[in-house]
Amino acid sequence: MEGIKGRRSIRKYKRDPVPEETLRTLLEAVRWSPSWANTQCWEVIVVKDPKGKAALGTALSKRNPALSSMTNAPIVLVLCGKKGISGFYKGQAATVKGDWLMFDTGMAMQNLCLTAHSLGLGTVVIGLFDHKKVEEILEIPQNIEVVAMTPLGYPAAEGIAPKRKELSQFVFYDKYQGK
Ligand SMILES: Cc1cc2nc3c(=O)[nH]c(=O)nc-3n(C[C@H](O)[C@H](O)[C@H](O)COP(=O)(O)O)c2cc1C
Repeated sequence: MEGIKGRRSIRKYKRDPVPEETLRTLLEAVRWSPSWANTQCWEVIVVKDPKGKAALGTALSKRNPALSSMTNAPIVLVLCGKKGISGFYKGQAATVKGDWLMFDTGMAMQNLCLTAHSLGLGTVVIGLFDHKKVEEILEIPQNIEVVAMTPLGYPAAEGIAPKRKELSQFVFYDKYQGK
């Protein structure tokens, strides 16, 4: 609970590089995430080249509060998902939800973010950007989709925790009781 409550979206980073071994630990956190029938649809692109990070930054709108972190952070991780395997059985969608890649990559991203926090590193999930543009920049093939990105580095400033809903607003017993 300490890790879950203490993790914050970090949008300002120190220039200090992230040790290779630490990066590897984070990638292991992705590797050991749960996934639909252990299909492991995730793929991660590690971008360290300043030109590469700047190019990815052009896919964010100027109003995205995470824009500057795309170039300030020493690393940007791009989380992708292979289409048509998570949630599928013999090529057919097994549920009305279709592809579960958003779910599986979401779990992987959470493992990554919590592990990063436990190692003193900051992350911020970035979902609001031009996905097509990022797919072009990174030369992503048709069967893969870019889901989200996160800068990675040592926090230069801590974030303030935005308020959460009370349990009574989203937990119901026996039947749905929301409005
Ligand atoms: C799917 C998803 C997409 C997000 N996209 C962005 C984004 O594009 N830009 C940004 O600054 N933060 C983004 N965030 C971060 C949220 O704003 C943040 O998690 C939320 O305000 C709660 O703050 P906390 O992470 O510090 O607890 C995103 C978070 C999630 C889970």
